[in-house]
Amino acid sequence: MDDARTHLRVPGLDPHYFIRGEDRDNLERFHKMASRHPVNILITGNQGCGKSTLVRQFASIHNRPLATFQIGLLLESGQLFGQQRLRSGETFYQEFLFPKAIQTPGCVIHLEEINRSETPHALNELFSVLSEDRSIWIDELGFVQVAPGVIFFATMNEGDEFTGTENLDAALKDRFYRIHLEYLPEEVEREVLVRKTGIDPDLAGSILRMVNRIRGNREMEISVSIRHSLMIAELMSLGASLREALVYSLQVSRDSLESLLLAIHVETGETRAPEDAYTLYVPGAGEAK
Ligand SMILES: Nc1ncnc2c1ncn2[C@@H]1O[C@H](COP(=O)(O)OP(=O)(O)OP(=O)(O)O)[C@@H](O)[C@H]1O
Ligand SMILES: [Mg+2]
Repeated sequence: MDDARTHLRVPGLDPHYFIRGEDRDNLERFHKMASRHPVNILITGNQGCGKSTLVRQFASIHNRPLATFQIGLLLESGQLFGQQRLRSGETFYQEFLFPKAIQTPGCVIHLEEINRSETPHALNELFSVLSEDRSIWIDELGFVQVAPGVIFFATMNEGDEFTGTENLDAALKDRFYRIHLEYLPEEVEREVLVRKTGIDPDLAGSILRMVNRIRGNREMEISVSIRHSLMIAELMSLGASLREALVYSLQVSRDSLESLLLAIHVETGETRAPEDAYTLYVPGAGEAK
């Protein structure tokens, strides 16, 4: 347990994080509930809509240590708990962070991309830990029992067509409360951009009009998350034009870029890159405006 303490930290607070009041109230209920028995919560929502931040924020607010695990990367069962290793010709079992974390009272366990694990096998032990008995036998470790007050948050992207709760084993899904995060309302997202990047509120407003136009246009097939609108706002707060900020922040195909630039033209009158498209990139050859 000792070295787990050095790994398990209470995360820092995001002073500019917004959620629905209803979600906040129910998170308080889950926090209280966790003092009676371990609780599982599934957070779904589009990419970059604040799922991971919500888990960190919850841990931070309640002064709970946080441990995060990439379930999407698991290849086989047992992988979360530990591994046989070789040291000076001898094999030994190295215990990983997961068993330490779940045995730490009050710990927040974040299971990232729970629907993306490569093989269903990989979720076997997880299932025991999330189910009523909350314990599991591991040959090398003996009984591993979930500590009092532990709370499990699983997060998954929902929005892109290749994933979704239907990809999650029904029996597993059954054991979770669920919080679904939407994109923020425009005025709240604007507040976030202003607070987090220091951008001028009017500029933030025009970014979001543009961004929401893209979000509303299914044909463009560009997803613009809150992460993206923050990236755009940060570039613009450093002097980039809206066109530049979009080009550098969004992963867009050539076709989508064309329609995007057309749309920007409507919005700002900017059409294409400046004439002096190429410049020397050596020390002192020019300063970003
Ligand atoms: N409601 C919000 N209030 C303030 N900032 C937010 C909010 N939602 C997202 N952000 C910011 O947007 C960025 C992306 O958020 P986060 O990483 O939590 O999203 P995610 O849903 O976990 O993304 P992914 O699907 O890629 O894992 C972070 O910088 C976060 O602080
Ligand atoms: Mg995340």
